[in-house]
Amino acid sequence: MSAPTAEALGRLWADGYTVVPAVVTGPLLERLRAEADALVAAFEAGHRGDDFWHFTREGESAPVLYRVHNLEQQPGATLAAGLFAAGPLHHLAETILGAPARARVIAMIVKMPKVAAAVPWHRDRTDAEPGRAVNLSLFLDDSDPSNGCLEFVPGSHLLADDADAQKVRTAGPVLTVGAQAGDVAVHDVRAVHASRPNPTARPRRSLVIEFVPNATEAP
Ligand code: NI
Repeated sequence: MSAPTAEALGRLWADGYTVVPAVVTGPLLERLRAEADALVAAFEAGHRGDDFWHFTREGESAPVLYRVHNLEQQPGATLAAGLFAAGPLHHLAETILGAPARARVIAMIVKMPKVAAAVPWHRDRTDAEPGRAVNLSLFLDDSDPSNGCLEFVPGSHLLADDADAQKVRTAGPVLTVGAQAGDVAVHDVRAVHASRPNPTARPRRSLVIEFVPNATEAP
């Protein structure tokens, strides 16, 4: 895997996000993609559960999957459970955080072709100091502005806990952040961000793991 460059780390601490290219490649990336295909196919075939988050579009009957929460606990998510336990994302997180780190939660974000909605502007949480909790998004598909890539307001991770995400977005600037399959987009959990809808025929899936230093107390 590639380690983050000093430039990428500098961008992360200044802007609140960065992209580290080609962290997971080759057979592991292909197997993770196949595992994601199977999880989505299971939902399409009628599998339901509290962790399979979905919505129904107005005037439609078919539910649209958008998130598989607690991914490491799902039947068939063996490889994702492995990534949650150890491996390249842990190494990357420890380099970024500068300390031994643990994974708190893993989810799969699914932006289904044609039907995926935008994710509204938000911060993941603000009960961590800047630089003390990061979300790593391993992209399983290429992501660009047309199929639901991430968007950020640079520097917004440094704002006060009670900053209003929508007002911050309106004040801008807003930067769109594309990624290739296998890249990891890293963002401070405090960063103000969103993601676009996916009107294209291309899926856009990512595995998101939050990391904190081992010494961090709950949550
Ligand atoms: Ni988020």
